[in-house]
Amino acid sequence: MRTSNIDLAGKTILVTGAAGFIGANLILELLRTVQPVRIVGVDNMNDYYDVSLKEWRLAQIREAARGAKGSGFFFVRADIADRQAVDGIFSEYQPELAVNLAAQAGVRYSIANPDAYLQSNLIGFYNILEACRHSYDGGKPGVSHLVYASSSSVYGSNAKIPYSTEDPVDHPVSLYAATKKSNELMAHAYARLYDIPCTGLRFFTVYGPAGRPDMAYFGFTDRLRAGRTIEIFNYGNCRRDFTYVDDIVKGVHRVMTAAPERRTGEDGLPVPPYCLYNIGNSHPENLLDFVDILQQELIRAGVLPADYDFEAHKKLVPMQPGDVPVTYADTAPLMKDFGFRPDTPLRTGLRRFAEWYRDFYL
Ligand SMILES: NC(=O)c1ccc[n+]([C@@H]2O[C@H](COP(=O)([O-])OP(=O)(O)OC[C@H]3O[C@@H](n4cnc5c(N)ncnc54)[C@H](O)[C@@H]3O)[C@@H](O)[C@H]2O)c1
Repeated sequence: MRTSNIDLAGKTILVTGAAGFIGANLILELLRTVQPVRIVGVDNMNDYYDVSLKEWRLAQIREAARGAKGSGFFFVRADIADRQAVDGIFSEYQPELAVNLAAQAGVRYSIANPDAYLQSNLIGFYNILEACRHSYDGGKPGVSHLVYASSSSVYGSNAKIPYSTEDPVDHPVSLYAATKKSNELMAHAYARLYDIPCTGLRFFTVYGPAGRPDMAYFGFTDRLRAGRTIEIFNYGNCRRDFTYVDDIVKGVHRVMTAAPERRTGEDGLPVPPYCLYNIGNSHPENLLDFVDILQQELIRAGVLPADYDFEAHKKLVPMQPGDVPVTYADTAPLMKDFGFRPDTPLRTGLRRFAEWYRDFYL
């Protein structure tokens, strides 16, 4: 087990992608469980998907912050690809921890819109690394831990399962994956050069209430409700390690409290204080079973009528470029170091999603 070396209470924590799915849930978890805490949320509120969902998440955070005595939430609308804006935020708020979740997500979108990925995922992440590096200027304690989002998509079409962080990942099948792998490489170089304690987390298909409308469970629900047909890729021969968002944010929270130790190597230079983990459910589900459970839960929640003709709204189609047939996380290192493993069953998670969807849209 790794011992916790950071007490989050009383700290100023920067969370980028604060209005995003995982970012907003992480901030809610921190406001619920750490007191007092000062959270600086950054998001550019881009319209990759419905902005009202991002505004709704921010409203939830503001309400939670009002109820968390002694804690504070400060929202800054800014683009992390804007160097001046990032430097300004670091100098104004002096964060002691940084969690970088802001990114252009999505595999398919990266095929037609590569620019957004280069800007947010590469330039944006570089700006965060630079700001962390300069947070130590003048002998200041600066950022004691940078935690950042990577993705299971870095495993590409690797045949060996479950996916381990020890496996080679040099053959990305999408630009999105290439930018996420690049983040890990950049973080390693900055950890080595400037002794910035960094932990990268490879998330596996995260789902839940107020999730991302571009993801399959959400898109399927929208389409079925509109009486349209859903396309099931690779003729349903896909397996995904679906991870419930509460499990993800609990994992991120634990990881935040244990920064890799700074040490000096035999060459007199820092041994990079750098760690990398998978966070996934480690229980891949067949896509057709997943669709089946989703249908049942949509009926149960009253999103769709009990006699809905699912067969008439399903189409099995070939594999899409950039997609992979299976994702399956080896979470043994996370368990060993943090005594934690995501374990919310798919049905429980989809039930909460379906109920949220009903309350939000119907
Ligand atoms: N959800 C998943 O299944 C999943 C899986 C693997 C990795 N990830 C990674 O986790 C992180 C969070 O993902 P999410 O699902 O919450 O996505 P999300 O799109 O809901 O959240 C990302 C947020 O970042 C903001 N953002 C994007 N570019 C920005 C920029 N340049 N400056 C400031 N803000 C910017 C967006 O407005 C959005 O609110 C991302 O890095 C994503 O790549 C997510």
